[in-house]
Amino acid sequence: MWSNLSKLNKDELNLAELRTNVLAKQLPEHIALIMDGNGRWAQKRDLPRTAGHEKGVERLKETVKIVSELGINHLTVFAFSTENWKRPEEEVNFLMSLFNRTFESDARELHREEVKIRVLGRREGLPTDIRKKIREIWEMTKDNQGLNLNIALNYGGRAEIIDAVKELAVKVKSGVIEPQEITEANFAQELYTQQLPDPELLIRPSGELRISNFLLWQLAYAEFYFTSTLWPDFCEKDLLLAIADYQARERRFGGLKD
Ligand code: IPE
Ligand code: IPE
Ligand code: MG
Repeated sequence: MWSNLSKLNKDELNLAELRTNVLAKQLPEHIALIMDGNGRWAQKRDLPRTAGHEKGVERLKETVKIVSELGINHLTVFAFSTENWKRPEEEVNFLMSLFNRTFESDARELHREEVKIRVLGRREGLPTDIRKKIREIWEMTKDNQGLNLNIALNYGGRAEIIDAVKELAVKVKSGVIEPQEITEANFAQELYTQQLPDPELLIRPSGELRISNFLLWQLAYAEFYFTSTLWPDFCEKDLLLAIADYQARERRFGGLKD
């Protein structure tokens, strides 16, 4: 039925039917998500941008639940980029306190749901209380068997690649490996994502058609899905439509159709 998807009025599709159809096909193992559009969501309602960020956290909690229930193993979300420090100090401070509060309260709830929470990004530059919570959350959830939730915080794709290069340079200098032994596989091991499989699907709400320095290495062969829905409005139906769109694509990886 998905070949006919574009001919249907997407709003007419029944949610349960959509879910059943998505579940009947191969799901992505790893979804990457740029949680964008919080500010515009708030501005449209004459609210301060901070209200959009609060709503964005609520949306993330709902999304984690839906993704877990679908049986998808990995979800990597972009929460704060290395470039977001350029924002006004009040907004940055608000976001840091929001992350702090979320790690304090919601992490326990996710822990009960067996979610394993890892934070990806540069630790330097983050407030010490957040760094402490990042370690505590990892310790608390690392043996969980449910969804792997990776939160990209103070994350930049270029910064990640440079950090990996530095790690490898140290290993070469100390003679642990020879320069000619560097491969795509052992380079990837030095990235923050380490053992994670590459995302098959990248979703960006908010209408922007760019990746804004997210997972530059890992998205090499991901399928991109863009929607104008703002992140705080991104509901289960939007997620299912993104997955259905992915399922209808032909992935060739440079080869030819079977
Ligand atoms: C995403 O929403 C949240 C962060 C980048 C921290 P924005 O704050 O970028 O929202 P818009 O893009 O201004 O609407
Ligand atoms: C990307 O969104 C980063 C996050 C969602 C955390 P931005 O709002 O920072 O991206 P640009 O500035 O529109 O590229
Ligand atoms: Mg934005």
